[in-house]
Amino acid sequence: MIDVSLTQALRLVSPTRHHYFKPFSDIAMCGNSTSSPCRGTVDTQELQQVALFEKCRQFTKAREMQGAGLYPYFKPISESEDTVVVIDGVKRIMLGSNNYLGLTHHPKVLEAASRALHRYGSGCTGSRFLNGTLDLHEQLEGALAEFLGKEACLLFSTGYSANLGLIAGLVGRGDVVYLDKLDHASIVDGAKLSYGETERFNHGDLGGLERRLERNGTSRGAMIVVDGVYSMEGNIADVPGLARIARKHGAALALDDAHSIGVLGPNGDGTAAHFGLIEEVDIIAGTFSKSLASIGGFVVASESVIHYLRHHSRPLIFTASLPPANTAGVLAALAVLQQEPERRDRLWANTRRLQEGFRSLGFEIGPTDTPIVPVLVGPLEKTFLMWRRLFDAGVFTNPVAPPAVPPSQCRLRTSMMATHTFEQIDFALEKFASIGRQLGVI
Ligand SMILES: Cc1ncc(COP(=O)(O)O)c(C=O)c1O
Repeated sequence: MIDVSLTQALRLVSPTRHHYFKPFSDIAMCGNSTSSPCRGTVDTQELQQVALFEKCRQFTKAREMQGAGLYPYFKPISESEDTVVVIDGVKRIMLGSNNYLGLTHHPKVLEAASRALHRYGSGCTGSRFLNGTLDLHEQLEGALAEFLGKEACLLFSTGYSANLGLIAGLVGRGDVVYLDKLDHASIVDGAKLSYGETERFNHGDLGGLERRLERNGTSRGAMIVVDGVYSMEGNIADVPGLARIARKHGAALALDDAHSIGVLGPNGDGTAAHFGLIEEVDIIAGTFSKSLASIGGFVVASESVIHYLRHHSRPLIFTASLPPANTAGVLAALAVLQQEPERRDRLWANTRRLQEGFRSLGFEIGPTDTPIVPVLVGPLEKTFLMWRRLFDAGVFTNPVAPPAVPPSQCRLRTSMMATHTFEQIDFALEKFASIGRQLGVI
């Protein structure tokens, strides 16, 4: 299968002919009934003259991996039964999903999404600001604010845009935003989009953070933004330490709880609740693309902060709102999350089994405290080779490569779901063990 897609990929980018959309000549040709199709082609020589595309021609790394049959990205799933997916016609255990509670296939979630689809249609066709607000959006905002113990909530179309909208919306000229070096890319991009200054401290280095805050003084607006759970490492942020520093220096503290909602906290209510520090954390951002089994994002905070963001957040205002089926699905998933706490128990039982299994086999899994379990492999080529052998053996994982990690510390990121069975986990561990031994990882 890989060879077929490789052939197709090579045909599309063959050295002599490129499929290439030429807007002006195509418009002329489209008006002529005897013309060839609207999409034209252009030869390499012409492409080479466009300086901008030079980087595209020079980018060969991914094609080399494709050629070697080791390319692990963009694998199309043709069917999904929760913990088992079909790729290239073969069933594989999904060990690389963020569907922590296994709610993507829950009957109540599917039923709610389907009802909303028929009542409201397939999309909102506009921004929240104008024609794109549904009563469902407001219901979900109310439910999330209450669940997370904050006054108000604002929905975004993705978790990525929630971070962009939060940071660029609040951090203005003269303000400073402080980021942990392992913060998610959406937090980094939010800081780039803002008009404020960005200071990045080493991962978990609260001394370094405090020195930066002292240097900048308290007269400037300041916000500290960190992941509640780090998405590649699986460790939990030191919220008590961060909250103490934020208070001392008059900074706002924001957590990205993408990987914590449904996982941490007495009710699955996230990292602040896990530490009993809901009051001390000013803002919580999150996503619906993980435990809440859909797509979309949110920010919860005080009413005045949310009111301000509603009127100043460009990634909210200048994009279409969350589709009805997704919004209703998330509302249902949030209800199930609260009504079925046994799912969280099951997730943690599975997490312990996987972590203990890896450790007893001799794998290095780092400081994870959560269902995110990264397995250190080493160099990139070996990591991709291990990924491929696991894939062929029926286990789907996610390779993590530079720049997300240093070149010698590539890893396979695995993650648990509440709906994995012990048999599936043991099967995956067995495959990891034999392939890990073949490749000298253990
Ligand atoms: C920590 C963190 N924040 C934000 C996001 C973005 O979420 P979404 O997929 O909803 O855009 C992710 C997703 O990978 C994430 O891991």
